[in-house]
Amino acid sequence: MSKLVWGPGAMLAPVPPVMVTCGSMEHPNVLTIGWTGILNTIPSTTYISVRPERFSFPLIKESGEFVINLTTRELVRAADFCGVRSGKDLDKFVCCGLTPEPATQVSAPMLAQSPVNIECRVKQEIPLGSHHMFIAEIVAVNIDEKLIDRQGRLRLDQCGLAAYAHGAYYALGEKLGTFGFSVAKKKKKRPAKAGKPPAGRTSENKK
Ligand SMILES: Cc1cc2nc3c(=O)[nH]c(=O)nc-3n(C[C@H](O)[C@H](O)[C@H](O)COP(=O)(O)O)c2cc1C
Repeated sequence: MSKLVWGPGAMLAPVPPVMVTCGSMEHPNVLTIGWTGILNTIPSTTYISVRPERFSFPLIKESGEFVINLTTRELVRAADFCGVRSGKDLDKFVCCGLTPEPATQVSAPMLAQSPVNIECRVKQEIPLGSHHMFIAEIVAVNIDEKLIDRQGRLRLDQCGLAAYAHGAYYALGEKLGTFGFSVAKKKKKRPAKAGKPPAGRTSENKK
């Protein structure tokens, strides 16, 4: 593989194009954020990096609270709109037909249309240059009940999560494996009943 060397750039893909809600139920705002991720497991810690010129910036800085709402295939158009238009000029909830709903632990609203709402409380703000990084503790996670199967497992694969890579939006597609599959032991086959070889396996092909 022959490589080209480019200068420094924010070249990481895919990233989640999350919809971050902030402000209050009375005056909600929502902006799209790609610079986000998990920083720590216990306590559950996340971050968002926000440019100080965003309308949302002082709302998050002053309240110390925001909600990360996961973006689905159905929400992608709204996510793009909320990432190119500012709450200082218009009400993005009204423009996109989005609904704010009260969160359980923070004053910032959640996005009703998103199946996963992650309530966050800011612990630290780090000015990095173009962006300020808000490091925040995850204080509650709200999940659409329809994503919980009969065994009580979360089926995040069923909500059509969106990804963002190099200027384009995608829906997550083919499952390639599950955690640890590369080292998982194969399940032992049950012993065949005497006189009846299992389908596809005969004394000829048994090796
Ligand atoms: C896919 C996508 C990802 C974005 N990621 C960020 C980000 O990580 N940080 C940021 O400050 N702005 C980001 N933006 C830009 C803001 O969402 C955009 O400037 C928005 O209009 C700000 O809204 P506001 O002025 O209402 O706060 C992103 C936009 C898009 C479309």
